[in-house]
Amino acid sequence: MKKPLMPLVMNYMRPIYVYDLDFIAQRFQAMAKALKNVRLFYAMKANSNPGVLSKLKSLGAGADVVSLGEIKRALECGFQPQDIVYSGVGKTKFEISEALKLGIYQINVESLPELERIGKLAREMGKKAQVALRLNPDVDIKTHPYIATGLKDNKFGMELSLIPALISCLKNYADSISLVGVSLHLGSQMLEFSGYEEALQKLKKVYLDLKKDFPELKKFDFGGGLGIFYDRVDLALEESLLQQYAKITLETLSDLNCELQSEPGRWLVAHCGALITQVQYIKETSAKTFVIVDAGMNHLIRPSLYEASHRIEPLLKGTSAMVADVVGPICESSDFFAKDRSLTTVKEGDFLAVMASGAYGYSMASVYNLQELPLEICI
Ligand code: LLP
Repeated sequence: MKKPLMPLVMNYMRPIYVYDLDFIAQRFQAMAKALKNVRLFYAMKANSNPGVLSKLKSLGAGADVVSLGEIKRALECGFQPQDIVYSGVGKTKFEISEALKLGIYQINVESLPELERIGKLAREMGKKAQVALRLNPDVDIKTHPYIATGLKDNKFGMELSLIPALISCLKNYADSISLVGVSLHLGSQMLEFSGYEEALQKLKKVYLDLKKDFPELKKFDFGGGLGIFYDRVDLALEESLLQQYAKITLETLSDLNCELQSEPGRWLVAHCGALITQVQYIKETSAKTFVIVDAGMNHLIRPSLYEASHRIEPLLKGTSAMVADVVGPICESSDFFAKDRSLTTVKEGDFLAVMASGAYGYSMASVYNLQELPLEICI
């Protein structure tokens, strides 16, 4: 977030997510430059605000989607079916039929029964589905267990031991499925790349083996997952991690001579958003000071769900300091944004910004306790 936020609260009604679109453009361009010749499909689950999507589309991004709802939103925002990669473990028959009707660019398949389902539906419809196999290489990327996806006890992707069965299924459906790619996504908030590198090496071998049977194979989708720092601002270090990630990827995969794809979400949009909330009460107990604000876990669930530590900044900088828990109005003890956090002293009526909330903020919001959803503003 690089723009001033104070003007936004002139007629404050309820919590506001604010997104800085120029900053999103800078992040996209930095990633596109580092990952030269890689087609970037923005993982729109991170933030599906129409302004954000239209901006990314205008910059040349494709969209990575995981539901028919996301397909529809992407189309409304100007993406074409040929700009869309469709991932997700639970695609229904209806969703797959719609994707086939639309001519979605690529379906990333997550299980053998899903591959069968696609083969049958495409055959009935007289279509040829363009699929990539999402493989699960069973590697650890050292992230929060709730956002790891590349281990064998995760529900995502397919184990490498399943490949012979996948090959025979693909051969049975040679008339209705074309195997165009191999894909992986190991999880989110990756800040260290040894597991990632190991996964690339494993899947590179698989790609070369599959290519012998399926000459139309031409794409390698290396997923998303590049992490950011929540507890500090260090964009230079984030950029250098991006360079490291790009170097590993491009060097490992260069001799495949194939089309490379990625599905970044968080890295593009997290820092470009903030959640603005107003202090309602300062509540003192014998144990703690609570700053009670009008946003809650229903608006931003990351601290409650993953113990994420977002920076919290007052819109008007104060001088003195306090230590407090910043909590919301929801009837759950897990409804907190920060615990025992040093803050500039705030009082009732002040505004706080919960930073780096542009990814997985509004897109995970709910109306729990029948609290209204926050507003969203693009600046
Ligand atoms: N591709 C696939 C198949 C994915 O499942 C995801 C994220 C991405 C790409 C994008 O990953 P990213 O670049 O954003 O890390 N709600 C959690 C994150 C869940 C991520 C789910 N999949 C959070 O707030 O940390």
